[in-house]
Amino acid sequence: MNILIIGSGGREHALAWKIRQSAHVKRLFCAPGNAGIAQVADLVPLVVDDVAGLARFARDERIDLTVVGPELPLTLGIADEFQRHGLRIFGPTRAGARIEGSKAFTKELLRRQNVPTGFFSTFSDADEAVRYVHEVGVPIVIKADGLAAGKGVFICQTVKDAEDAIDEVMRTRIFGDAGERVVVEEFLEGEEVSFIALTDGHTVLPLASSQDHKRAFDGDTGPNTGGMGAYSPAPVVTPALHARIMAEVMEPVVHGLRDLKLDYRGVLYAGLTITAAGPKVLEFNARFGDPECQPLMLRLKSDLVQLMDACVDGRLNEVRIDWDERAAACVVLAAAGYPGNYEKGKVIRGLEALRGWQNGVVFHGGTAQRDDAIVTNGGRVLGVTALGPTVRDAVTEAYLAVEQLHWDGIHYRRDIGYHALERHT
Ligand code: GLY
Repeated sequence: MNILIIGSGGREHALAWKIRQSAHVKRLFCAPGNAGIAQVADLVPLVVDDVAGLARFARDERIDLTVVGPELPLTLGIADEFQRHGLRIFGPTRAGARIEGSKAFTKELLRRQNVPTGFFSTFSDADEAVRYVHEVGVPIVIKADGLAAGKGVFICQTVKDAEDAIDEVMRTRIFGDAGERVVVEEFLEGEEVSFIALTDGHTVLPLASSQDHKRAFDGDTGPNTGGMGAYSPAPVVTPALHARIMAEVMEPVVHGLRDLKLDYRGVLYAGLTITAAGPKVLEFNARFGDPECQPLMLRLKSDLVQLMDACVDGRLNEVRIDWDERAAACVVLAAAGYPGNYEKGKVIRGLEALRGWQNGVVFHGGTAQRDDAIVTNGGRVLGVTALGPTVRDAVTEAYLAVEQLHWDGIHYRRDIGYHALERHT
C-alpha cells in the first residue's frame, strides 16, 4: 500500500515509525513532516490545512490510505473531501470532528447520552458568562469553545481570574474565532487520564491507557501546553475502571454519534478526570494524543496499518490489538519560551549518540534539517521515549537518554510519570 501521513509533530513521527514496520507498506509519505520523519518517509511540502492540495497529491500518487495526525484538517473537512474523490482516509468527517472542534457540541452530546461530566453552561455573551461565574463560584474552568492548540482552558481559583479569562477569550480574542463562545464548567478534582480508542462508528477498540502532563513545569505548575510528557500504562486505570469507562463513556458516545447519523471512523480520545465518584469527561479529541501517541506506538505490537485499514472499512470487530507488556515513557524536550513565543533554528546536539539506542526512540516534533545539522523548528522539539519493565524503569531510561541531548535554551520537566511512581509502579 501507499500511505500518506498528515502532520509534523512527535505524534506523526511515532505513527510513521510504526507504519514503516508494516509489511503492507510500499511507499510512505508525510506532509509536511520533520527531520526525524524524513528518515522513514518521503516528505511532501504541503501544509496540513491545504485540503485540496493534499487530495490532489493522494490522487496523483495513488495513495491507498491517508492517516490524519492533527485536528485542524479534520475540522476543515479533509475526510469529506477525500471521500468525495473516492480516497480512503483514517479520521472522522467534519461533522464528527466537532467532538473536538466544539466544546459546546460535545457537552450537549454528553448530556443527551447521560455521560458523566462536570456541570456547565455555554455563553456567547461575556457579561452573561461573568454573571454565571458569580452565581456558581470558584474554582471554575473557562474554556474557549473552538480549537486553541490545547491552550484554551483556564482553571480559575478566583472570580477575578475567571473574569480575566473570559475577557481574554471573548473580548481580546486571544484565540480568534475560537473565543466566539465560552464554556464555563465545573472544576473536577482528581487524576487525569487519556483514554484513546479506535472506532469505526460501531465497534470501540480501546488502546492501552496513558496519561500526559499538560502543565509546562514540574509539579504540574505553569501554563498549559500541548503536553510535556506521557506514559503508558496509567496505573490509575484498573481493569474495573477500564470496564466502567467503556460502558459509561465510550460506548454511549459512539452510540450518540451514530444517532446523529455521523460517519465516525478514526480515533476517539476521551480526556477524563477520575473523581471520587468515578470517571468524568473533561473533553474529547478526534485524533491521537501528542505526546501519548509516542509511548503507545512503542508498546503497540499489532500491525497499525491492519488496524487502521479495518477501521476505515468498518471491520474493527474482526481485529484484535496486542501490547508489549512493558511500560513506556516519553519526556518532551521543548524550546526556550514554549508554550509562549519561542526561538527556532538552534542546533540540536547528541542525536548521533542515540542512533543505536536499544530501549527507546527519539521522536522528532519541531525539527528541521539545515545543511548538515538538525535544528529546532517548533515548541515541542523532541519526544525521548523509552521502554522498561515498569513505568519507573521506562522513565529512568528516558532521562538517561535526555542527558545526551542539548541545544541553546532546552527545557523539560524532570518529574514525568510522578503520578504513576507515587503508586509504586
Ligand atoms: N496531550 C494532549 C492532547 O494531545 O490533546
